Amino acid sequence: MFVNFRRIRKCQCVQLMTTCLVLSVVMVCWEQLDNSVVSHVKSYSYRYLVNRFTFINKSFTIPREEARSFSNFRYLLDHPNKCTGQDVLLLLFVKTSPENTERRNAIRSTWGNETYIRNSLGVTVKVVFALGAPRTKTEEPSWSKKSGVGFQEELVREDRLHGDLIQQDFLDSFHNLTLKLILQFHWAHTRCAHAHFLMTADDDIFVHMPNLVSYLQDMSRRGVTDFWIGRVHRGAPPIRRKDSKYYVPTEMYQWPAYPDYTAGAGYVVSRDVADRIYQATLTLNASIYIDDVFMGICANAIGVSPQEHVYFSGEGKAPYHLCIYGQMMTSHGHVEDIYDLWKAATHPQVKQRTSGLIGRLYCTVVKLALLCKPYYFNTYPCRAAFL
Ligand SMILES: *[C@@H]1O[C@H](CO)[C@@H](O)[C@H](O)[C@H]1NC(C)=O
Ligand SMILES: *[C@@H]1O[C@H](CO)[C@@H](O)[C@H](O)[C@H]1NC(C)=O
Ligand SMILES: *[C@@H]1O[C@H](CO)[C@@H](O)[C@H](O)[C@H]1NC(C)=O
Ligand SMILES: *[C@@H]1O[C@H](CO)[C@@H](O)[C@H](O)[C@H]1NC(C)=O
Repeated sequence: MFVNFRRIRKCQCVQLMTTCLVLSVVMVCWEQLDNSVVSHVKSYSYRYLVNRFTFINKSFTIPREEARSFSNFRYLLDHPNKCTGQDVLLLLFVKTSPENTERRNAIRSTWGNETYIRNSLGVTVKVVFALGAPRTKTEEPSWSKKSGVGFQEELVREDRLHGDLIQQDFLDSFHNLTLKLILQFHWAHTRCAHAHFLMTADDDIFVHMPNLVSYLQDMSRRGVTDFWIGRVHRGAPPIRRKDSKYYVPTEMYQWPAYPDYTAGAGYVVSRDVADRIYQATLTLNASIYIDDVFMGICANAIGVSPQEHVYFSGEGKAPYHLCIYGQMMTSHGHVEDIYDLWKAATHPQVKQRTSGLIGRLYCTVVKLALLCKPYYFNTYPCRAAFL
C-alpha cells in the first residue's frame, strides 16, 4: 500500500506505530484468545444454529452388552429397602468421595437430616451418598496416610451408624464421575423408582431444604413431567487445553459445543425423566468422563432439555443475607460454614422480616445491591432480584 508520508503529520505517525504495536501484541496473544474467546464464539454460534444436536444420539449409541461395562459394578454398600413402602418426595444423591467424612457429617446434621425434614416439613426425603471404592495401598499417593483397606473398614463403620452410603466397586476418582452418575440412576431405578423427584448434588453444596421442598411440592401438585431444573450451561465448548481438569480430546467429543446441561453442583429431575435417563444409559457410550455433560447427552437422546432456576447455583456462592435465604435453593462451595448457614437460613426471623409489603420492598432493594453489581460476581443472576 502506498502511503504519502509527507502528508502525515507527526502525531499521526505515532498513532500508526501504536496501532502496529497493538496489532502485533494481539497476534502474539492470538493463541490464548483462540482458546477461550474464539471457542466460545464458535460454540455459541454452533449451539444456536445446530441446536437440536440430533447426531448425538446416533454417535453415542453402542450395543447394550458394551454399555453394560459402565454399570455392572458390584455394590460394596447398599440399602435395598431405603425407600420401600414410603411416599418419597425426593431422593437426593450426594456425590461424595471416601475421605470426605466431615462433609457427610455436616450434611447429615444440617440440611440432609431426614428426621428434621419429616418432623418439620412433613415430607419424606431420602438423602444418600454415592461413592466409589477408595484407593488401595499400591495406588496410594505417598502423601496420603490412609490405606484403602483400612479406609473401607471406616466406611463400613460409618455406614453402620447412618445407613446411607451407596457404594460401588469402581475407583472413586474425578475421571470416574460418570460411573457415579450411572450408579445413581440405576440405583434409583431398582430401589426407589417411585420417588417423585431425583436430585444429584456435590458434597460441598448447601441446599435450602425448606425452600426446595415447598417448591417441589408445588411442582408435584401440578403434575410436572419432562422436568429438569438447575443452573443451565448453554453452548458450552469442550475444553481442549491439556492442562485443564475438564480437558476433553476430540476423539471423545468432536463437536464445538456440548448439548445444554445443568451444572453438576445440584439439579433435580422428575420421576419420568429419571426413568428415561436410566433407559438411555443402557445404550450410550459413557466414556466421556464429565458427568454433567454426559447427563446432557443422555437428556438429548431422550428429548429433554434443562430449565433454568435462578436460585440454583453453579459455581457460585449465595450472599449471606436474610433476603437471599427466603428464596435460595442451592449454593455451592460450603464446607466449614454449613452449620452457621443452616442455622441462619432456617431461622424463623427470615420469614417474618421478608414478608409483607415493607419486607418485600426492602428485600428487592437489598437483592439489587447484592446481585446486580456491574463487575463480574459469581452468584445468582441479577434477574433473581426481581422475583
Ligand atoms: C436430626 O434432627 C433431629 C430432630 O430435629 C435431631 O434430634 C437429631 O439430633 C438430628 N440429627 C443429627 C445428626 O444432627
Ligand atoms: C475407574 O474405575 C475403574 C474400575 O475400578 C478403574 O479400573 C479405572 O482405572 C478408573 N478410572 C479412572 C480414570 O480413575
Ligand atoms: C466409546 O467412546 C470412546 C471415545 O470416547 C471410544 O474410544 C470407544 O471405542 C467407544 N466405545 C464403543 C463401544 O464404541
Ligand atoms: C435415540 O436412538 C435410539 C436408538 O438408536 C432410538 O430408539 C431413540 O428413539 C432415539 N432418540 C431420539 C430422541 O431420537
